[in-house]
Amino acid sequence: MPKGNFPIEKFKNLNTPFYYYDTTLLRETLEVAQSEASKYGYHIHYAIKANANKKLLDIIKQAGIGLDCVSGGELKAGIEVGFSPDRIMFAGVGKTDDEINIALDNNIGCFNVESVQELEIINSLAIAKGKTANIALRANPNVDAHTHAKITTGTYEDKFGINIELLPEAIKTVRLFKNIKLVGLHFHIGSQITDISTFEDLCVCINELQDELEASGEATVQHINIGGGLAINYEHPNHLPVPDFETYFRVFNKHLKLRKGQHLHCEPGRALVAQSGTLITRVLYVKKGITKQFAVVDAGFSDLIRPAMYDAYHRIENITSEDTPDVYDVVGPICESSDVFGKERKLNCTKRGDLIAIRSAGAYGESMASQYNLRPLPKSYMSEEF
Ligand code: LLP
Repeated sequence: MPKGNFPIEKFKNLNTPFYYYDTTLLRETLEVAQSEASKYGYHIHYAIKANANKKLLDIIKQAGIGLDCVSGGELKAGIEVGFSPDRIMFAGVGKTDDEINIALDNNIGCFNVESVQELEIINSLAIAKGKTANIALRANPNVDAHTHAKITTGTYEDKFGINIELLPEAIKTVRLFKNIKLVGLHFHIGSQITDISTFEDLCVCINELQDELEASGEATVQHINIGGGLAINYEHPNHLPVPDFETYFRVFNKHLKLRKGQHLHCEPGRALVAQSGTLITRVLYVKKGITKQFAVVDAGFSDLIRPAMYDAYHRIENITSEDTPDVYDVVGPICESSDVFGKERKLNCTKRGDLIAIRSAGAYGESMASQYNLRPLPKSYMSEEF
């Protein structure tokens, strides 16, 4: 069984659970993403919600990538790390007045606006500060992302964005407000999108919308933001650990008809950071039942909630045992039946004290951790610290 590239002897002296980030892989991923995007002059804004660990943010900033934020906390974290405010986008269906003011005070690049009422509020808060806010309207394009229901966002019944049929009207409304300026159109149809043709559907939809707007005499917006969503391979994290950014950007170059001078922005989260992160946990007990056996580990869904929340699959490896594999349910210590990382997983014969690696946990792992049961938040280590 492949074990990934872990400093196991060093791990043995550390308290568990903790996140371990392979910064070499992270840098490589960022470099590939940047070089594929720059082939076409596309701009990447990292969706910080995937992982806001300061050390990772610093590396992402150094790679010359911008930021996509969805809260005042994320805006502050990004600015504190040193992301240039004009390369920060602020999205979210429920921005509070305080959050809008933080964005205005810091002169961020663009608000991705999700409702007509939000336009009105940003305009009035901007008037109070004597500023003009750049905004992009988020369109809900009704493109099915064929992904988990809880991470699909671009269909008619989702709360996100402005229904694409109502968008021309919303654009007219923008003109009524003097302290906001329409600079872009924003789209995001879902996350962990494995079928690349879904992005072609998105391109078709954007092309149609732009044609329609042009036909009705609207001026071309400065940028098109295609959101995030590129998937990673959870089953085989060692197989092509850097996602296929080449194909991803090629699809947009081939199918999206950008207008003259129009820029393309994107907001990947998972694809940039997921494979660099691993949750390392220790086996507390091996409990034998009648039909199955459990490896009870010291990490729980408070540390990594994806399996419990989305039935997400993460590859699980015993990185300290060389013994003949056996089958285990790998479970956490939290008193809820959903606190399971994987059922019927083949692991090298497992005993108390063994270290278990839960792979592909760099995105929506540490950032979704909680203190449920008053458990401490998980610690984190960077590979370059060892
Ligand atoms: N842009 C917008 C407007 C978004 O809502 C999201 C993610 C992204 C970009 C980044 O998407 P990504 O490239 O990471 O797929 N917690 C879930 C994922 C929720 C994604 C929410 N929005 C999970 O663990 O799978």
